[in-house]
Amino acid sequence: MSRHPHLAILGFGTMGQAISAGLVEASGYPAGRIHAATRHPAAARARAETLGIQLSGEAAAAVKAAEVVLLCVKPKELKGLLAGLRAEGALDHRPLVVSIAAGTTLEFLTANTPEGTPLVRAMPNTPCAIRRGMTVLAAGAGVSEAQLAQARALFEPLGRVMDLDEKHMDAVTGLSASGPAFMFIILESLAEGGVQCGLPRAVALELAAQMTLGAASMVLETGRHPAALKDEVTTPAGCTIAGLLALEDGRIRSVVARGIERATQVAAGLG
Ligand SMILES: NC(=O)c1ccc[n+]([C@@H]2O[C@H](COP(=O)([O-])OP(=O)(O)OC[C@H]3O[C@@H](n4cnc5c(N)ncnc54)[C@H](OP(=O)(O)O)[C@@H]3O)[C@@H](O)[C@H]2O)c1
Repeated sequence: MSRHPHLAILGFGTMGQAISAGLVEASGYPAGRIHAATRHPAAARARAETLGIQLSGEAAAAVKAAEVVLLCVKPKELKGLLAGLRAEGALDHRPLVVSIAAGTTLEFLTANTPEGTPLVRAMPNTPCAIRRGMTVLAAGAGVSEAQLAQARALFEPLGRVMDLDEKHMDAVTGLSASGPAFMFIILESLAEGGVQCGLPRAVALELAAQMTLGAASMVLETGRHPAALKDEVTTPAGCTIAGLLALEDGRIRSVVARGIERATQVAAGLG
């Protein structure tokens, strides 16, 4: 299989477009090797044209020419989509099928694809669109090392990639797939604090975003525990400890952690 296999992207909404953009605009995947399909292509035609990829309403046609099929529809749409593909024999050549659907197990995918279809579950996030994504992969039984490497190669240009056992996928969904939304409201709140203290809004937002990027990068690049890094910022009787205690009074740790727990619980029920 080539480094850039013929790729069918079924579902061209938020994630289908984020992954397509990451592949074509940010990592040089040849647009001519991507065929996306969605039920109402007119709505997303302009985006597909900008990217230079083919977009149609024909999922089966996209799949028949594909070496890798990326399922990017909502979990509740998956069963009908796979039933339609099976009825048309579109998966009979056994392409590698990668599903990003939340809460949708490999067991479900196995039951709804032709016997012997190589299956991988993936959980990416929207920052894949700018190559700062996080994707976790879980391979189905019978997926070869080469096929898993093929799935990995698809997401590696879009950010970090990690392999995990499937039992972790709901927690991954709650943390790193829903997580950007949580971080966006935290960023908004940080900026509001700056505005409250007199900073122009645009300045406050830039400071908040760059500071968050820097703090996250320190954790990833030094491998040090966030608590140790926090202690280094916190001078005795200084301003940081005063701010930290105010955040702790508002139960920031348990509020954030419970948000992940709640998202994980809901993700588990989506399939
Ligand atoms: N949003 C995230 O941040 C995120 C992160 C990680 C994983 N996910 C997962 O990614 C999947 C897609 O989520 P999303 O947020 O991108 O949803 P979305 O924006 O609603 O996009 C879903 C797309 O699927 C299309 N579709 C529905 N049925 C179809 C069918 N039978 N054949 C072809 N296309 C079909 C829809 O358009 P038409 O109605 O025109 O067909 C729509 O464009 C979900 O399973 C979700 O769990 C999402």
